Amino acid sequence: MSEKIYVFKRFERFWHWSQAALIITLMLTGFEVHGSYVLFGFGKAVDIHTVAAWSLVTLWVFAIFWHFTTGEWKQYIPTLDKVDAMIKYYLMGIFTHAPHPFKQTVVTKHNPLQRLAYLGFWLVISPIIWFSGWFYLFYASWAAWGVDRYLSLEWVAFFHTVGAFMILAFFIVHIYLTTTGHTVTSHIKAMVTGWEEVE
Ligand code: HEM
Repeated sequence: MSEKIYVFKRFERFWHWSQAALIITLMLTGFEVHGSYVLFGFGKAVDIHTVAAWSLVTLWVFAIFWHFTTGEWKQYIPTLDKVDAMIKYYLMGIFTHAPHPFKQTVVTKHNPLQRLAYLGFWLVISPIIWFSGWFYLFYASWAAWGVDRYLSLEWVAFFHTVGAFMILAFFIVHIYLTTTGHTVTSHIKAMVTGWEEVE
């Protein structure tokens, strides 16, 4: 038996898909700047990367405001309750059609493993990419800020690239997990329409 619940509000869906588009753009242009391939041409890739980075900053300001005014930030408070059951489910249960250990509701829309993963994204990966990205962007101002004695461009680029690979790994796992809902596309549909089909 399945039923439908409304989990993702309009702003949340807008935020999710614009963020996805910007992060994909940042990955495509960033790895080109890194030298992994040629797609837009180096100069253009740099320009697009900069515009997408500023757009993402703007989007995040609105998203953070939204999370705090709606109280939705509480969805990210971590819990270890049932984390072991979730890991077991993704490693084994999912292949033997065992029941999902977590029941999604409007109040708790993330399973415990998702909470930890998203919190890790916000607290570990984002600061790495943001701080290194800012210092990279404002390299010309280092001397004026008096930080040129402490920083080297090689290290900033290194940390930025580490952050980029972490985002790439997160992205791949994230896409795989979108297919593990009630049906292969039910999670994706929920992020488009807001309505999730649950057991
Ligand atoms: C969120 C996803 C992001 C990814 C995946 C990403 C990825 C990358 C990669 C792989 C490079 C090449 C690094 C190198 O080899 O030296 C790069 C360069 C750069 N990134 Fe990012 N980046 C992201 C976000 C940001 C943000 C938020 C900022 C600024 C606040 C930023 C600013 C820069 C700058 C200034 C460069 C140097 C080249 C340029 O001017 O475009 N990036 N990025």
